[in-house]
Amino acid sequence: MNSFRVIVTALCCVVVVFGGLPFSSNAQLDPYFYGKTCPKLHSIAFKVLRKVAKTDPRMPASIIRLHFHDCFVQGCDASVLLNNTATIVSEQDAFPNINSLRGLDVINQIKTKVEKACPNRVSCADILTLASGISSVLTGGPGWEVPLGRRDSLTANQSLANQNLPGPNFSLDRLKSAFAAQGLNTVDLVALSGAHTFGRARCLFILDRLYNFNNTGKPDPTLDTTYLQQLRNQCPQNGTGNNRVNFDPTTPDTLDKNFYNNLQGKKGLLQSDQELFSTPGADTISIVNSFANSQNVFFQNFINSMIKMGNIDVLTGKKGEIRKQCNFINKKSSELDLGIVASAESMEGDMVSSI
Ligand code: HEM
Repeated sequence: MNSFRVIVTALCCVVVVFGGLPFSSNAQLDPYFYGKTCPKLHSIAFKVLRKVAKTDPRMPASIIRLHFHDCFVQGCDASVLLNNTATIVSEQDAFPNINSLRGLDVINQIKTKVEKACPNRVSCADILTLASGISSVLTGGPGWEVPLGRRDSLTANQSLANQNLPGPNFSLDRLKSAFAAQGLNTVDLVALSGAHTFGRARCLFILDRLYNFNNTGKPDPTLDTTYLQQLRNQCPQNGTGNNRVNFDPTTPDTLDKNFYNNLQGKKGLLQSDQELFSTPGADTISIVNSFANSQNVFFQNFINSMIKMGNIDVLTGKKGEIRKQCNFINKKSSELDLGIVASAESMEGDMVSSI
């Protein structure tokens, strides 16, 4: 091996992973779980996502968010995908999700193709998790072997979605508690927040920061003034709040370390983002700085934390089921239930592809 290669290899290995080992928290999952039962799974998912991302470059971000919103509510069990029926109160109507979730139709596209290739084998929870890993790769982010073997829930929990998902005005302490409740630590919080390096947010989540922060009649002092002006142009005070702004003004559809550089420059979009860097004396500041300094360090920690998040309360073995259709449990529906199913399906176009 020549000396250049030795240096490159050494550099690749000198990567600081702040958290624990990625596979330590759930030994039952395995990247090769479908090696025999559905060997084409990865290529099917990759092809669908690559095609969608070409015409809708925001979609990979939306998929990663969908996975996060699944995992924080009774674990990564595809509960977020369940539509309203007589027995299911959909998480899609919870406050953090309503008029906001995207990508459900993309997961369905993958599921339809996977069912053709290997019927009744692959869970929707695994498809969503795998699609998140692929979404990272497709947007310039890191790739990793996604542990698989999850099964799908028989229930959803809308009130838990309202309770568990963090809000854009959360203080650092509240953010830490929301993550700790899922077994995720401060490094996980900072690493996973790095997903706010792509995708969009509606103005309604930042209007108070722009015009009347904490009822002071003034903007949030932790917002850079030039950036404040740009955001005010995109989000007028008396607008509907439904305009969308990029999380990252420079590379809006790329998964990179810019999020952390933005925080250093007081250009975090959400209050909850900027809290990570602007809370006086916070232990998150040095973590932000280390990710801002090295994309390699960020990527390693992002991988570690994505795997940890993907392991939250998974159903394995004989628990749950492998859904045939990701938006509904398999249980035979009653006459009444069928009626509701039909109307939910006809609404689905509105619900999943509106943004
Ligand atoms: C730390 C607490 C977090 C808060 C308070 C938060 C809040 C939000 C809000 C308010 C939006 C905009 C939604 C809308 O406009 O409808 C958003 C978008 C987004 N979030 Fe988070 N989020 C957090 C953590 C995460 C995590 C852990 C991930 C993934 C690992 C993530 C990924 C995303 C992505 C990719 C988008 C853009 C989605 C799109 O364009 O469709 N967020 N988040």
